Amino acid sequence: MNATASVTVRVPAKVNLQLAVGPARGDGYHGLVNVFHAVSLFDEVTVSVRGDLPPGQAVLSADGERADHVARVPLDGSNLAARAAALLARHVPGATGVHIHLAKAIPVAGGMAGGSADAAAALVACDTLWGGGTPRERLLELAADLGSDVPFPLLGHTAVGTGRGERLAPLPVRGTFHWVFALAEGGLSTAAVFAEYDRLRPDAPEPRLDPELAAALAAGDPRRLGAALANDLQPAALSLRPALGEVLDVGRAAGALGAVVSGSGPTCAFLAESAEHARALAEALRDCKECADAVTAHGPVPGAVVR
Ligand code: C5P
Repeated sequence: MNATASVTVRVPAKVNLQLAVGPARGDGYHGLVNVFHAVSLFDEVTVSVRGDLPPGQAVLSADGERADHVARVPLDGSNLAARAAALLARHVPGATGVHIHLAKAIPVAGGMAGGSADAAAALVACDTLWGGGTPRERLLELAADLGSDVPFPLLGHTAVGTGRGERLAPLPVRGTFHWVFALAEGGLSTAAVFAEYDRLRPDAPEPRLDPELAAALAAGDPRRLGAALANDLQPAALSLRPALGEVLDVGRAAGALGAVVSGSGPTCAFLAESAEHARALAEALRDCKECADAVTAHGPVPGAVVR
């Protein structure tokens, strides 16, 4: 076991630049082409040894600036970070019980993969704490077992996910993009949004990577990227939460280069021309009554790192 008493890992949120959703598969999932982009909203996950608990068992605590979001974090064994510790413990001989503390800045149940990011961070933090030395490829496999969005925060930057979104290939990106995220009151269930998608689109075509989006990223061109942002889940998220349409309209009217629901929502993402433009867009969005808050961030950023 590592001599360190605790290990902290910083992990980024993601926004989906393209989320193309195919027909429902037999296993309860959908085939995806999912372009993940890591942005500078970070959770910090700290794990420390709890010698009084069996190996892999976790007790959790959470804090963060937004009390309403922190209140939605499950603190029992259903939390994906607790499941990550339990899964890794089955593969690492020096595993112990752990206390997992989540310092939350990523919106909870917001379509920015905060729970998945915490699970990815817990894998890295526990492996470091326990001195597991688990190879990165193995951590990526364990991450995929935990959830479709868990492998990406291990890599960060920008990547395209295929299969159910867990098979990743990095995408080349030039420069930095500036974003605003409009947070909503209350979360949306990913499973409920996919079910609404099936109701609205029973005849979905096979998903494909948009070559124009890939070209815009490689060129570092925010105007082209803004025009290419696309999310097949957006009509389903809007159907379950119509007020999001007004949030998207406010951002577009304030000059966003692109406006899209992030993942399964309800967070909305807006692409800006510059950091200054992002600050102005955030101001405009904060005036919209459907928007609980607006935060700025940039991407791409690296994946989970030990602090
Ligand atoms: O993989 P994860 O547990 O994060 O997925 C949560 C839910 O989202 C799944 O139970 C499923 O309903 C839906 N989903 C899907 N197709 C995917 C990924 C997720 O239908 N590719």
